[in-house]
Amino acid sequence: MSLFNLSLTPHSELPVGQKAYILGIFSDVGISTDFKDDHPNLSKQINLAMKNGEFKAKLNQSLVLYTADCKTSQRYIIIGLGESEKYKSDFLRQAAATAAKLIVGLKVSSFAIEFMGESRLAPGDAQALAEGLVMGSYRFLNYKKSEDDYTGIDDVTVVSDTAIADALAYGMQVAAGVVLARDLGNHPSNIATPSYLADTAEAIAKIGGMKTTIYDREDFEKLGLGGIQGVAQGSDVPPKFIIMEYMGGGKDAKTLGLVGKGLTFDSGGISIKPSAGMDEMKFDMLGGAAVLGIMSVVAETKPKLNIIAVIPSTENMNGGEAYKPGDILTAYNGKTIEILNTDAEGRLILADGLSYITDKYKLDGLVDFATLTGAVVVALGHRYSGIMTNDQDFANELIAVGEKTQDRVWQMPLDDEYAEDIKSTIADVKNTGTAREAGTIAAAAFLREFVKEGTSWCHVDIAGSGWLKKGRSYLPEGPTGAGVRLIMELIRSWE
Ligand code: BES
Ligand code: ZN
Ligand code: ZN
Repeated sequence: MSLFNLSLTPHSELPVGQKAYILGIFSDVGISTDFKDDHPNLSKQINLAMKNGEFKAKLNQSLVLYTADCKTSQRYIIIGLGESEKYKSDFLRQAAATAAKLIVGLKVSSFAIEFMGESRLAPGDAQALAEGLVMGSYRFLNYKKSEDDYTGIDDVTVVSDTAIADALAYGMQVAAGVVLARDLGNHPSNIATPSYLADTAEAIAKIGGMKTTIYDREDFEKLGLGGIQGVAQGSDVPPKFIIMEYMGGGKDAKTLGLVGKGLTFDSGGISIKPSAGMDEMKFDMLGGAAVLGIMSVVAETKPKLNIIAVIPSTENMNGGEAYKPGDILTAYNGKTIEILNTDAEGRLILADGLSYITDKYKLDGLVDFATLTGAVVVALGHRYSGIMTNDQDFANELIAVGEKTQDRVWQMPLDDEYAEDIKSTIADVKNTGTAREAGTIAAAAFLREFVKEGTSWCHVDIAGSGWLKKGRSYLPEGPTGAGVRLIMELIRSWE
C-alpha cells in the first residue's frame, strides 16, 4: 500500500497530462526563469501568494494551484523548501512527505515531482526524497475493513536531469525496511507473536540467502538461556529466540552484530503496569522490528559484509508460572540476576541475546535496539534515541550516521561506576537500579555485564523515538521505524 512505482525522467521527456505536478522551491530563490517563461500565469499566482506573505516557501509550506492552460498538468502543488543556505537533504525528506500527504488527501494516485530545479538533485537528496515519499504516505490499514475510500500512491515520476536512478531505488529499499518495522509494530500482540516474528525472519532469510536458527522454550533450558526462559514463564504464547546469519562479505569482511528486544506484549508481569496505556505495550517489540526491518533491506541490497541478528522474543505476562520479584535467573553467560521488578524484563531477554551473540561470533561492532526504559522518554522525549556505549569511537560513528540520516541518537554516560547501581546483595546483579535515578543508564550498565569483554557495543534505547503519540512530517503516529535508516547508513559506511 505504501510502496509504489518510482521512475526518473529528464525534464525534456516528461509526458504531458500529469495528474499533479509537485514543485519544490526555496524561499529565497523562488521560481526559476525557465519556469516563468513556460508558465506565465502560474508564475504570477505564485509570486502574488509570496508577495502577500500567504506563501513564503518556508519548509513544508504548501500551495495548491489549478491551471487550465498547461499541458504538463492542470494541478500544481508548490512545496516550500525553506532557505537555500540552510539546506540539508532532510529538508527534501520532509518536503516529499508533505507532498505525499497532500497527494493522498487529494486522492491523486500518480504525479510528477521536481525539487530544486532540473539539475541540482544529488544522489543523497534523491535517496531522502524517495524515503520521504514512502514514509510520509505510510498508513496502516490492515484492520480497517470498512475504510474503502483510501487511495494510495501508484506512480511517481521524479523529474531531474541528474543521474540519480540508483539513489532513488536505494531510498525506496531503505524506506521499505522502515515500513516493515512500522507494520510489525502496528500489528497487535495477538497477531505479531514471537512466532510471527520468527516467520518474518525466515521469509527475509529466504530472500537474502541467510541462515536462520529459531530456539523454542524447550531449547532455552538446554542452552542456558535463563533470562528469556524466566520472562517467558508467565505466558502460554510460545517464545522464540531468533538468530539470523547474513554472510555477504566472506571471511575477511567486517561482521556487524544486531540484537533487538522482541517483547511482543509487556504487561509488566507480576509487577503489573497500570491499565491506562497498557495497549501501547504491543510496541515493546520495536527493537526486534527495527532489526527485522534492517535485515529485510539487507536481503534486497546485499551489502558486502557479514551481519548477525539475534531477536529474543516473548510476552511478559502473569500466568501461574510467571517469574516473581525475588526470583534469581541465570543468563546465558552464567551470571546470576536477582529480580526486583518483573517489569524490567527487556534487559533480561537482552542479557541472553547479548551474551549469546558475543559468545558465538567475533563481531567488529554490536548494536542493540530496545524500548527499554520509560526514563529515556523523560530525558530525551520522542526525538532522539538514547545511546550508551563501551567504545566511544563506535558511538561516534553512530552519532554521525544519526545526524546524516536524521535517525538521531543522543549519548548518555556509562562510566564504570554505574555498575554499582545494579549490584545485588544475593546475586551477581539485580535487574533494577536506584529508584528514579538514571534509569536508562542503569539499564545499560546492566546490559554491559552481558557483552563479552572486547566487543565494541552500543545500546540504543528507542522507548521514546520508536513510536509517537502524535505524528510529525515523515514520522506517523505509532511506530516510526527508528533504527532502520541509522543502521543502513552504518552498513554503507562499513562496506
Ligand atoms: N517496556 C518498558 C519500557 C517502556 C516504557 C517502553 C514506556 C515504552 C514506553 C520496560 O520493560 C519497562 O517497563 N521498564 C521499566 C523499568 C523499571 C521497572 C526499572 C520502566 O521504565 O519503568
Ligand atoms: Zn517492562
Ligand atoms: Zn518492556
